[in-house]
Formats: sequence, structure tokens, C-alpha cells
Amino acid sequence: MNKLIVKGKNKLYGKVEVKSAKNVLLPLISACILLDFEVGFLNVPKLSDVDVMLNIIKCMGGSYRYENDTLYVDCSSLHMPEIPCEEAKKIRASIFMLGPLIARFHKASTVKPGGCNLGDRPIELHLEVLKELGVEISNGDYIYLKTDKLKGKKIVLPIVSVGVTENLMMASCLAEGETFIINAAKEPEIVCLANFLNRLGAKIYGAGTSEIRIVGVKKLSKNITHFKPITDRIETGTFILYALSAGGEIEIDGADFVHNFELIKKIHNNTCKIMLSSDKIYIKSSGAGNGLGFIKTAPYPAFPTDLQSLTLAYACFLRGTTVIEETVFKTRFKVVDELRKMGGQIDLLDSRAIVKGTQYMHGAEVIAPDLRSGAALILAGLSVDGVTSISGLDVIKRGYDRIDEKLRLLGADVKKG
Ligand code: EPZ
Repeated sequence: MNKLIVKGKNKLYGKVEVKSAKNVLLPLISACILLDFEVGFLNVPKLSDVDVMLNIIKCMGGSYRYENDTLYVDCSSLHMPEIPCEEAKKIRASIFMLGPLIARFHKASTVKPGGCNLGDRPIELHLEVLKELGVEISNGDYIYLKTDKLKGKKIVLPIVSVGVTENLMMASCLAEGETFIINAAKEPEIVCLANFLNRLGAKIYGAGTSEIRIVGVKKLSKNITHFKPITDRIETGTFILYALSAGGEIEIDGADFVHNFELIKKIHNNTCKIMLSSDKIYIKSSGAGNGLGFIKTAPYPAFPTDLQSLTLAYACFLRGTTVIEETVFKTRFKVVDELRKMGGQIDLLDSRAIVKGTQYMHGAEVIAPDLRSGAALILAGLSVDGVTSISGLDVIKRGYDRIDEKLRLLGADVKKG
């Protein structure tokens, strides 16, 4: 039962709700390591990546519980700052725990993390910035960290990195003195993490800009018992593209259109009608439209790399050509081979994909090479005339909660196989 069987050409009608974002829940769970009290996160979807992070917290002596879709995390009894290697290998975000672990315990250990296979995913920058704060690191099969004291300083990041910015923010909020992060990532998830920490007494200024200032404090305080994370902009973008490609009329509840501005700007004239409100996106589409021209992924607020595979799949059905340049993960094109099995006309040139839309796309047996490629293959399956069998439902569950159920409720013919 690790497959999805999709019978295409059903239009989508109805409402779908997006919940708290995977890519902010993972750093928020890591940030709980800094706290000696329980905090509840609202509106949490069931995602296997969240489960892995919670299991790591439990292995280190912390605890968690759910009350409906509120997730409570309590690290008051967390006492072993060693990330278990078999868990660390399951998820890239385990590296985000090093900052809070070293800030609270002044020691930590882990192994090189696993995660989606998007090509080389080095971690040297995570380790470099912690060294800048005064951490001694031995980097072999195991990575050992220790420090007598974290001391804030000005750190210029050579590349824009979401995870490094988050790790550094969490490490420096309890460091002595001030830390300046120059060339910081500006993603909404960074702002949300800073808001959470500031509600607990941290002093983080400038999150969402390329320069973040953190004034270290002694301790964080239990000023709040619950926190509402931002909703998942990548799942929102996923359903926008599903509606665009399959056709129909859907309303995405909980969506923050500001976080999807680049996508909406790119597709708004593509034979669709879009209405935006503060927490909903309504989209009506007749199905495939015209080629999207040139798209270049880059750090926020540019076009998100996490929607690149989905947009590439959508482009296969359009009239005309779409060129997509990937600048964040240069080899993030593993979905291309699978789309070619469905008739996709795609050429790869360095970090660019040139997609010629075709009306001859067809069902096939395909394999999800990573989370967002899996979501992209579902888009293709929804849009072809015929049946597509997608292996790798476990990979898709990392970032999408019951996506087959949500699509069935919208009228799609999708079932587990
Ligand atoms: C986060 O990954 C997201 N994951 C990714 O989403 C997302 O694609 C990525 O940011 C970019 O937006 C989570 O938030 C859990 P980076 P992260 O560090 O932090 C290079 C999904 O599908 N780099 O911003 O790991 C790196 O190779 C996932 O939800 C180094 O070279 O990404 C990349 O080229 C996939 N050395 C660039 O920085 C380092 O030490 C940006 O990656 C760290 C990163």
C-alpha cells in the first residue's frame, strides 16, 4: 500500500484546508529544546517528518502529546543532547537541533543528516556558524560539539540558507552579547520562528530581512502556553497548481496569498480566475493554459524551489514552452525522468529545464524520487487521460497530510494501491 493510483481528467471542486507549515514546525520543535516548559502548537497536520523530529526529542528525554490537532512539546526533562544516528539520517532538519542543544547544554552530538535526495546537501555552513559563536566541533562519522560559553558576533553568511539562519538564531538567542546575521534568509518560516522565540522573551530583530540582530538573554520564559504557526505555503501552492492543471473550482482555506505571491503572479493569466482574501484563495480554472515563459527559483521572496517540480509537471500540459532555472538545488530535476515516462517533452541544460507542452501526456507507472517530485507526479496523474501508478507514498507523506483523502473530497479519482 505504498502507491497512489490516480485516474486523471476529473476536475476538482470544493474546499481544502491547509494547516501549519511543515517547514516551520520542524524548527519550532527544535526551538522547544531551549525551553524547560511545555508549549502547544495549534493546527498541526499529521506528517512523518514531524513524527521523526518528535521521536528525536523523545530519544533525548523530552516528551510530546497531541490533543486533537494541537501538538504539545515538553523538553523540561530533556537531558541527553545526543541526536540518535538512525533518526538523524531520516531527516535533514535534525541539523536544526544543534543550535538549541548547544545553547542549552553546551554540548551536543549527531551524524550527517539524511533527507530528500535533492543532490549534494552539505552541512558545513551549519557547523561554521556555530564555531563562530565559540563552539568546538569534531566532524567525523559522529559530529561532536562542545563549548564553555556561546559569545555573539557578526556573522556574514556566504550563501542564503534557511536552515543555517534558523540554527544560528536559536543558538544565539541565549548567547552572551549580540549576534548579527548578515545575508540571512527571509522566508516566512524565519519570521514565524523569530516571533515564537520573541513571545518567550528572546530579543530577535529584523527577521524577514537580510540582516537579523539577536541580543542574547539569560533564559526564555513561559509567557505563552500556545502558539499558532503560519500555514503551509508549499501545500497551498501545490493545490493552486492542481486546480490549474486538472481544472475546476476550489477554495484553499487558511492560505496566505502573500506567501505565494510569485506563483500567483506567474500563473494568474493562465485561463484561470483567482480571488484572494486574508486567509483564503479561490481559484477557478478551465485546465491547462499557455506556457509560463521563464521561471527562476531563488530564496524568498523569489519563486520557491519547493514548487519547482510541481511547476515543471504543470508546464508539460501547457500550450507553448516554459523554461525553469533552478538556482537553489542545481540538480533538483529527478522528477524529469518520471515525467518523461508519461510523455513529458523536457530537455535539461545545466540547471535549466526546457519544457515543451504537449497534448500527448499519458498515464504510466512512476516512482516519487523525493517529496515535492511525488506531489508533482500526482499533478501529472490528475491531468492525463488514463491511470498513473505512483510508488513512494511514504515519501509524499513526509510533507502532505492525507493528500489522497483531500483530493478525493475534491472529486479526484485517487486511491492507495
Ligand atoms: C529548507 O531546507 C527547506 N527545508 C527546504 O524544503 C527548502 O527547499 C530549502 O530550505 C530552500 O528553501 C526545511 O525547512 C525543513 P538551505 P535547507 O540551507 O535549510 C546550501 C521541502 O521540500 N547549503 O536554505 O536545508 C544548500 O545545498 C524541503 O520541504 C550549503 O551549501 O536549505 C542549498 O544549495 C526540501 N551548506 C542552499 O544552501 C550548508 O551548510 C540553500 O539550502 C547548508 C546549505
